[in-house]
Amino acid sequence: MDNIKVTSDIDYEVFVDSSWRGFIEGILETHKKVLVIAPTFVADRAQLKELCASSNRVLFITPDGEAQKDFATVERLWSILGEQEFGRTDAIVAVGGGATTDLAGFVAATWLRGIAWYAIPTTLAGMVDASVGGKTGINTLSGKNLVGSFYSPRAVCADMEWLVSLGDRDFSAGLAEVIKTGCIKDLSILDLLEGVSGIAEARTLSSELVSRSISVKAQVVSADFKESKFREILNFGHTFGHAIEKLSGYSLRHGESVAIGLHYAARLSEEVFGFSQTDRITQTLLKFELPISVGREEFSWPDLLSLMAGDKKSRDGRIRFIGLRALGEPDWIETASPELLFATYEKIIR
Ligand code: GLY
Repeated sequence: MDNIKVTSDIDYEVFVDSSWRGFIEGILETHKKVLVIAPTFVADRAQLKELCASSNRVLFITPDGEAQKDFATVERLWSILGEQEFGRTDAIVAVGGGATTDLAGFVAATWLRGIAWYAIPTTLAGMVDASVGGKTGINTLSGKNLVGSFYSPRAVCADMEWLVSLGDRDFSAGLAEVIKTGCIKDLSILDLLEGVSGIAEARTLSSELVSRSISVKAQVVSADFKESKFREILNFGHTFGHAIEKLSGYSLRHGESVAIGLHYAARLSEEVFGFSQTDRITQTLLKFELPISVGREEFSWPDLLSLMAGDKKSRDGRIRFIGLRALGEPDWIETASPELLFATYEKIIR
């Protein structure tokens, strides 16, 4: 499989279907000191303790999931970097899902105003989205990813070996981002997913799906690294999805929330752009057991509206969405009336 190039603050490559062990060994040889950041189950499975046993290698075990993306964890990591006297030629390696790569990238961006970091994503969502593109950050009480930095890794290694033991729920959650990519840019992704019967068969296409999704992301990020506008197309499904994710108290996976957000954005696109292929999107999401609707009680309209108003894409109090004119033709929805937004919510309530 060809490596995928990203041009941004740093030009780097994403290695798809390449051995993560060879990748990390190369990093350990290149940098004098290396801090490896990973959650427990990844560290145990990959025997990272053994790998970091020699001097100048430090293993930091993160809390699981979104909990690791907090200021207390960042402070602990800064303390370790200080105690171990990490300098500008040393490096950080993230081995984990999107939360771990977001956290590690942010710590790398802020230590000495930026040291090298590398990503070894271990989930499908991490491979196709979080690890590529240089968005790093943590969560605060005000919301998800509101504190962060655009700071690219030096290289990313997406080894399909990790996906073998990834549970179906997480694999599907990652597929939501893959389906999003198919909707905005690469329709062959949708064709591929329509040709399989469900999650098990989709797994056999992992390396092609990952490679296609990362290629789209690499093109978009290379054109607009700091999201002056074009990069926002990657947020199709995310305005509503982020609000759902936050309101669920992060009990829904990011990808599950995005799946609901894709349905919302597709329905909104019907009214705004005359989009006519919502069913193709929802059938694909349902095939992989992804949610496409929510209950009125747990997800009330006033709560969702207030969270959406705080979305990073909002401008002057206006909630902005990425919609679709057609599959592969994303466009901005900036002036939808409150009545239309509510009517669209009514369409996706179960
Ligand atoms: N996750 C969307 C982006 O990286 O821009």
